[in-house]
Amino acid sequence: MRECNADAPIGVFDSGIGGLTVAREIMSQLPEEKIIYFGDTARLPYGNKSRETIIGYAKQIRRFLESRNVKAIVVACNTASAYALDTLCEDSEIPVVGMIHAGSKVATQVTVNGNIGVIGTSGTTSSGVYKKMMDSLKPGLNVIQKACPLFVPLVEEGLWNSKITDEVARMYLDELKEAQVDTMVLGCTHYPLLKETIARVMGDNVRLVNPAYETARELKEILREEGLLRVNGGRSTGHEFYASDLADKMQEFAGSILTGESINTSKIDITEY
Ligand code: DGL
Repeated sequence: MRECNADAPIGVFDSGIGGLTVAREIMSQLPEEKIIYFGDTARLPYGNKSRETIIGYAKQIRRFLESRNVKAIVVACNTASAYALDTLCEDSEIPVVGMIHAGSKVATQVTVNGNIGVIGTSGTTSSGVYKKMMDSLKPGLNVIQKACPLFVPLVEEGLWNSKITDEVARMYLDELKEAQVDTMVLGCTHYPLLKETIARVMGDNVRLVNPAYETARELKEILREEGLLRVNGGRSTGHEFYASDLADKMQEFAGSILTGESINTSKIDITEY
């Protein structure tokens, strides 16, 4: 492992604004930590791209975050976690945390009838990563994966609560209701922004698992084990936000997701890394 200092920042990245739902959880559970956030808005969406492409993007982003001397990286994107986490971890000198493990663990613990739904991008669901993880944690569960490709553009367009989103959610989720899932993982970091709509469509008896919350808890544990948890530093205020395109738009969204934080987003050319 590279020599790291607990005062160094944590790198967090996603294809766009979805990872801000993870940054929000990290800020709430680890308020003393400084975050360097990168949203790959120029190359969004990741969900319909190939494994090779996503691995290439993720390596560039890791180089950018390492150039900012981060002490850990959170892959705040399920698609990038599904395709690139192993590669990023293989030769990393710092901890790299993905989205799949923590959310899967909670889902396997809370299901009562053993029917678990996982919604995500086409990349995440076709990789089968959640099913494999859940099978390894608790064999014998019935894991039903459903791609919801229109959810990401709806979120990026700001249609978090709209009739169109309701209609699209019903189209995707009816199948999972019929399969009587009692637990459903929001397997894309954009989806917590549609939580109200998704909860309304699924009904009160379905427990929604937000891996963002669970991943922030896992990150805290890992930092503590590695002696990298920042303590007694006071609440961090100097978070940095970067986007590969449309930095102003990301700044606006970040303002509505991370209320109360002061946000300044800069555009960078990620292909230089
Ligand atoms: N937010 C990302 C995820 O968790 C993907 C969105 C996209 O398709 O770019 O999978």
